[in-house]
Amino acid sequence: MENGRGQWASSFGFVLAAAGSAVGLGNLWKFPYIAGANGGGAFVITYLLILLFLGVTVMIAEITLGRHTQLNAYGAYKKLQAKWAWVGAMGVLTGFLIMSYYSVVGGWVIKYLVDMTTGALAVNDPAALGAFFGGFIGASVSPLIYMLVFMAICFVIVIGGISGGIEKANKVLMPLLFLFIIIVAIRSMTLPGAAEGIKWLFAPDFSKFTGAGFLAAMGQVFFSLSLGMGCMITYGSYLDKETNIAKSGWTIPLLDTFVAFMAGLAIIPAVFAFGFEPGQGAGLVFVTLPAVFSQMPAGQLFGIIFFLLVLFAAITSAISLCEVVVAWLVDQKQMDRVKATALTVLGIIIFAIPTSLSLGAWSDIHLLPGKGFFDTFDFLTSNILLPLGGLLLCIFVGWVWGTDKADEEITNGGKLQWSYAPVWNFLIKYIAPVAIAVIFVVGLMPK
Ligand code: TRP
Repeated sequence: MENGRGQWASSFGFVLAAAGSAVGLGNLWKFPYIAGANGGGAFVITYLLILLFLGVTVMIAEITLGRHTQLNAYGAYKKLQAKWAWVGAMGVLTGFLIMSYYSVVGGWVIKYLVDMTTGALAVNDPAALGAFFGGFIGASVSPLIYMLVFMAICFVIVIGGISGGIEKANKVLMPLLFLFIIIVAIRSMTLPGAAEGIKWLFAPDFSKFTGAGFLAAMGQVFFSLSLGMGCMITYGSYLDKETNIAKSGWTIPLLDTFVAFMAGLAIIPAVFAFGFEPGQGAGLVFVTLPAVFSQMPAGQLFGIIFFLLVLFAAITSAISLCEVVVAWLVDQKQMDRVKATALTVLGIIIFAIPTSLSLGAWSDIHLLPGKGFFDTFDFLTSNILLPLGGLLLCIFVGWVWGTDKADEEITNGGKLQWSYAPVWNFLIKYIAPVAIAVIFVVGLMPK
């Protein structure tokens, strides 16, 4: 067990852990589907542009704020400008709310890994698999048990601390994840008929690209890079003063994008090769893919590898979300790590119960019009809290704390060359806040 709040053992360990946070369910089931639904290549180009100009900018800002203050999201804002502490508090709350449904979906992944292994998913018929999926997530007890298993895994990793728990887990899980996704992508792309899928995914079709696609791309960048709620502030706070923040700020989005592309190449060509429709979000991974694996030569093996890699991606993201809350309890409430982790995990479980039940027994209870717990938490976090958090972060770093001080931190007190500084300063002060605000407002307008 580490003393105090802990620290990464190396810059490489930090980059891996931050990439672990970024690479998650967002890459594996959301990206392939949203890309395809919004004109394929046209979406991909837009996504890359937003990632380059906004994603990297906000990423560097969050890491810098964390490294400078050496504090959790709430503490970081409070230390620099007490009036802004509520923005950090909002981030901690957002982490908690995201986990209330991320933990439920994490449980589904474990269930599918188990059933893939026992052969229970070797069913050729998507309609039967759809009924199976709907029946499982709508049940009252068994999804909760799988959610508990998922949270138990997170608990065991997070109590180990920063270098002894989170960094260690990422050093094992991330290389395996990279290896596994490359294996599945190669399998998928070498199937007869795979070319159709690759074309669907990457050939730019701007006729299908709309303003809504632009919004989807922006939201996807934020969610996928774990930005807008202080996750990267928290991870950055465990860095020493020697690390090159600017370099890390580029490497993390690069790794995240690599996995998003590989996910697209692992899933879509196989779906096309067996004559299925790319379908929708959750259905793609939990309904269509099992059907694909049941027809593929050695499909069970590739299915196990696939759900294992999805599980690894979900775990390395979930522990980063837990850590946002744990760090707040450790820094601000002087709690020891074990107690803080236990309290965080317990709190998440309590919120995850109604979230899971809202897909079955409690589907009549609506928090927002037409939305149960699951959809409400998803909507509130992705569409309101994350963009708002990102917008406020840009204003805070660009105008309140100031780019001079941020630049000083990024260059390690002038020791490092940073030729990108003038561009970054301009982006964080002007372009990013305006762009995010526009998207935020348009995104909330009734369709
Ligand atoms: N980025 C992860 C994914 O793609 C999810 C995630 C982890 C996240 N930490 C976050 C999303 C912080 C938003 C904010 O699945």
